[in-house]
Amino acid sequence: MSRKIHIFDTTLRDGEQVPGAKLNKRQKLEIAQQLAKLNVDVIEGGFPCSSPGDLDAVRAISRQVKGPVIAGLARAVKEDIDIAWEAVREAERPRIHVFLGSSDIHIQKKLRSNRENAMEMAVEAVKYARSLCDEVEFSTEDGSRTDFQFLCRIIEATIGAGASVINVPDTVGYALPEEFGDLIQRIREAVPSMDRVLLSVHCHNDLGLAVANSIAAIRNGADQVECTINGIGERAGNASLEEIVMVLRTRFANYQATTAVKTEEIYRTSRMVSRIMNIPVQPNKAIVGSNAFSHSSGIHQDGVLKDRATYEIMRPEDLGMKQHTIVLTARSGRAALKHRLSELGFSLDSEVFERVYNRFIDVADRKKEIGAQDLQTIVEIEVSKVPETYKMHGLQIMSGSKMVPLASVTLERDGQLHTDAATGNGPVDAVFNGIERITGVSGRLCDYDLKAVTMGRGALGEAMVRVQIGDTIYSGIGTSPDVIEASARAYLNAYNRYFANGGAEVIQSKS
Ligand code: KIV
Ligand code: ZN
Repeated sequence: MSRKIHIFDTTLRDGEQVPGAKLNKRQKLEIAQQLAKLNVDVIEGGFPCSSPGDLDAVRAISRQVKGPVIAGLARAVKEDIDIAWEAVREAERPRIHVFLGSSDIHIQKKLRSNRENAMEMAVEAVKYARSLCDEVEFSTEDGSRTDFQFLCRIIEATIGAGASVINVPDTVGYALPEEFGDLIQRIREAVPSMDRVLLSVHCHNDLGLAVANSIAAIRNGADQVECTINGIGERAGNASLEEIVMVLRTRFANYQATTAVKTEEIYRTSRMVSRIMNIPVQPNKAIVGSNAFSHSSGIHQDGVLKDRATYEIMRPEDLGMKQHTIVLTARSGRAALKHRLSELGFSLDSEVFERVYNRFIDVADRKKEIGAQDLQTIVEIEVSKVPETYKMHGLQIMSGSKMVPLASVTLERDGQLHTDAATGNGPVDAVFNGIERITGVSGRLCDYDLKAVTMGRGALGEAMVRVQIGDTIYSGIGTSPDVIEASARAYLNAYNRYFANGGAEVIQSKS
């Protein structure tokens, strides 16, 4: 008999705490819809009291995303709980997630309080949340560093107050697998009412042990794990959803535990989160890194060709990384493109489809064959597009080892073409300067990342930038088989966010 482990995804809350990864409502909704396809049990949509925008985004998720429980985070105070309830009340299955520091250091230094007051606050908060919502989760923040007796008392008391899920976080990523597993087992033994509720864990990765700690907790009786796609999250991140799910699946005999996650959606979800949040996935990242299934040594390649099981413990297709043999070219028409997109699981409205088609033709003109990953990249970019105040119309570069690079840039705004030329320290710098001259806005490049997102010499290059304009940092992404054009598109994308800035597209405000 296997146990079911509930997957609580907090990409849109703890994951969104990564500097520069702030999402707007549309982006959150898009990721939440994909998390529902991935079939996670709970989506923590955000921390609704943190901003009116987040309240609005979590409310939209609650209204539109069907299937998973939708949770909203709240501190153990009435105002937060009211706002969290406002955000999740229209969900099919709403949950209010209340948290309070329970370690002495949190209680004394952060809350400037004492254990008894903290206990009272927790109980009152859970009772109040329970008066609004049937499902209440209580988190003992910094649980792994909390005095064990007090931890058990606060858990017992909050279960008595109506919590149906108790979460024990390793907030600072300090725990070791054997001690965290032991903690979970001791809680189960010491708190009699624990059997009536779900026991959850939430591990951070400061020592690189978040997944190991989550797995140790599962072995010792945890029912729910809180995790994020690609392991993103506060500081060194959270436990990675895809790693936990694949450990349980690949080593089923060891844990006898399953999740409801549709693993074939893992790769697509990982790519989507990386792209929308502008957080690249390291190539050697377990499960979803670009090297996770590529074999470079001759001995390994030989082994894999003879039998994949020689060097592969998982099948890439189980993660949705299908090796498609059919490729599209510039001669493929709309019908072929539509068919291929539907095979890949995309159903696009006609306006987005036209944009995808135009971009597809543009890329296919320069790259002979368009594979599944190319298409996925094109669709993701067109789907999550910002309004284009300026459109890229043309680009010419002169560059060489003994000359100052010169770029001529043509942008279109309201049907009018604007051309300007600029020099720079390199061709990319020259292009960025050209964009600045036309728009009349100067920005400071804070981050620049360039990588190939597809295979081969004609690979699609993907550039990601973060540009500071005034006090705000805007992120941008651009793709093209030409890496300078990809960089220009990324820079322009950040500028278009700046122009579209109604607050919603703001990535990070410096205070
Ligand atoms: O890390 C943590 O303790 C948290 C809680 C709010 C659950 O994120
Ligand atoms: Zn956390």
